[in-house]
Amino acid sequence: MKLFDVYPLYDVTPVSAKGSVLTDKNGTTYLDLYGGHAVISIGHSHPHYTQAIKAQLDKIAFYSNAVQNPIQEAYAQKLGALSGLEDYQLFLCNSGAEANENALKMASFISGKSKVVAFKNSFHGRTSAAVAVTDNPAIQAPINQGHEVIFVALNDEDALKEALSSGDVCAVIIESIQGVGGLDQPTTRFFKTIETLCQAHGALLIADEVQSGFGRTGAFFGFQHHKIIPDLVPIAKGMGNGFPIGGVLIHPKYKGIHGQLGTTFGGNHLACSAAMAVLEVIEEEGLVKKTQEMEAYVKTQMAYLPAEISLKGRGLMLGLAFPFEIGALRKELLYTHQIFTGAAKDKKVLRILPALNITKAQIAQFFSALKEVLNTPEFQSHFK
Ligand SMILES: Cc1ncc(COP(=O)(O)O)c(C=O)c1O
Repeated sequence: MKLFDVYPLYDVTPVSAKGSVLTDKNGTTYLDLYGGHAVISIGHSHPHYTQAIKAQLDKIAFYSNAVQNPIQEAYAQKLGALSGLEDYQLFLCNSGAEANENALKMASFISGKSKVVAFKNSFHGRTSAAVAVTDNPAIQAPINQGHEVIFVALNDEDALKEALSSGDVCAVIIESIQGVGGLDQPTTRFFKTIETLCQAHGALLIADEVQSGFGRTGAFFGFQHHKIIPDLVPIAKGMGNGFPIGGVLIHPKYKGIHGQLGTTFGGNHLACSAAMAVLEVIEEEGLVKKTQEMEAYVKTQMAYLPAEISLKGRGLMLGLAFPFEIGALRKELLYTHQIFTGAAKDKKVLRILPALNITKAQIAQFFSALKEVLNTPEFQSHFK
């Protein structure tokens, strides 16, 4: 059997990884500034994390959600304490798309409505409702197009008011920083307007923290920079540091109804022990604060780049915006300097999503390589 050919692949075969360094089958090492799409939060193969998973594997790896699972309870407790959302309730699943799918479904169950407001350049996943609220027709099959979705430009208050005025909207779904789209951010004022309008029109506010959660932006959740209170908070990616796990935080005013949501694998013992270890490392290593310090360090390094290059995003969810498309630059960084970076829907944005415990020396290594690439004739021509 062959693999279904949906991924364009780099010619790199990683066989081991530690911290922010990957090693391939030839023994070549790579600096990982992308964490496999913002997944690696505490670094590859963190000893506390691997130990926790191994220990759990020897006890019990899985049983269904039909039995008591104290690891889930302990995880929810710790997540509430570290995030400051102690009163919220947690539903566990397996991925970011599934988290959003469940959040949208909850919003529809609760409100009794079905229309959704999403934003231009959004990305929320590839399952049916999640892809329908993703602003990319190329990845929506006809079967996904039955959902009623209005796409509004980020920070366009008038369009938002207009979209919600009909009263038939069940949810507004928003990323606190657009990841795949290219690191654009809603303003605090816009977030507050969404919050007010949702309350006025009986719609639920879904803050998609799948990519921006778990300290990545320098707050536990990205929306916390704006001091709003979402109804539903889908999470995944950095939550498991590579172990597949996702979830939805649900505001205390909503009560669970038996059977309304469910999953076979979600919240299994092994996944919860991986996710618990991630929280313990975030706490013990002070990774939310460290992320703020690394953001400050990145800003100092930006000063040595040509003025035409600007920095977007927050914390360690960053994008470098160039005055040209960055495809060739990324290849040069990967194949000549062995540095993994990411692309965005905006083809001029280079995405930087490292582990939150990346070192200053590793960030400096990236900037030094970038300067070297930009000094080659191919790239110099882009600058005055
Ligand atoms: C903001 C956001 N939401 C949802 C998803 C989907 O997550 P997954 O790929 O785990 O389904 C992503 C993935 O990139 C994302 O960035």
